[in-house]
Amino acid sequence: MKIAVLGPNGQLGRDLMACAGWPADTTVTPIGRDRLDVSRLDAIDGALGAADFDVLINCTGDHKTDDVESHADRAFVINAHAVGALAQHCDRRGARLVHISTDYVFAGDTNAPYIEVDAPGPVNVYGATKLMGESLARAACRDTLVLRTASLFGVAGSSGKGGNFVETMLRVGREKGALRVVADQVMSPTYAGDLASWIVRAIGRRIAPGVYHAVNTGHASWYEFASRIIERAGVEATVEPIPASAYPLPARRPAYSALCNDRLATLIGPMPSWRDALDRYLVAKGHTAGL
Ligand SMILES: NC(=O)c1ccc[n+]([C@@H]2O[C@H](COP(=O)([O-])OP(=O)(O)OC[C@H]3O[C@@H](n4cnc5c(N)ncnc54)[C@H](OP(=O)(O)O)[C@@H]3O)[C@@H](O)[C@H]2O)c1
Repeated sequence: MKIAVLGPNGQLGRDLMACAGWPADTTVTPIGRDRLDVSRLDAIDGALGAADFDVLINCTGDHKTDDVESHADRAFVINAHAVGALAQHCDRRGARLVHISTDYVFAGDTNAPYIEVDAPGPVNVYGATKLMGESLARAACRDTLVLRTASLFGVAGSSGKGGNFVETMLRVGREKGALRVVADQVMSPTYAGDLASWIVRAIGRRIAPGVYHAVNTGHASWYEFASRIIERAGVEATVEPIPASAYPLPARRPAYSALCNDRLATLIGPMPSWRDALDRYLVAKGHTAGL
């Protein structure tokens, strides 16, 4: 199998490139921004045409949620129109497209984990751009896997966001000894290393095209997640729950965007809990004082 990865230097892309689970006869080729800036829509066919692959994994994204509110045009190009162009190319050459989407396609006005067929309803521009990307990908390429993930923490840290939530909590906790964290937004924290291994398994098992929720099992508020991080890393800091209204940001967030991963787990096997994943992340980063 020949795999090509867009966004190979990002948080997920790095874990994907480093993943040990690829079948022996697989080649994995990075296609970085230097070879293809996906916002140059007219360059997509040429750059992909020069690459040899039968599965294209798109890990690119413009996902600084607050910044995107005031840069919608740029985000629609990268998160939607470029994805449509990638999908058209894949369909023409008979390749599979694996595209990474987000829990932010949902409105969050529920209290049970979302399943794949639940109606989307983004509450911010980023979610709207990613939802459009999903639609364009599925419309243009018959063999598209859309994997919705959430609240990623990976060893490399997000290049777009300049780190990840776990590292921010540890840094601020150590520096200030006190954290105030939003308690009325619930999501599914997900380890990028696990997501990378699920992508490898999903491709290897040739699961049917469609939409899948690719998150660690379980859910937490940002406050619960932060409390667990501080406890397990053995950092001396207090964590105080606050409402989102006390921490205003340019983009609205869904109050509840936990995802149910049953559909994917049935096909690729057990997907560990976020608590288990967090411990493995902390070990990988050497934050082991509380473990
Ligand atoms: N992070 C999260 O919490 C989260 C949650 C849900 C879904 N997602 C989705 O998961 C995917 C991966 O996220 P991540 O955390 O790995 O993000 P990341 O670390 O910011 O990586 C994004 C990658 O996209 C590349 N990229 C951005 N604009 C590009 C362009 N115009 N042309 C070519 N490459 C471009 C970046 O290239 P450079 O390395 O050159 O900058 C980077 O490698 C994204 O689609 C995101 O929307 C992320």
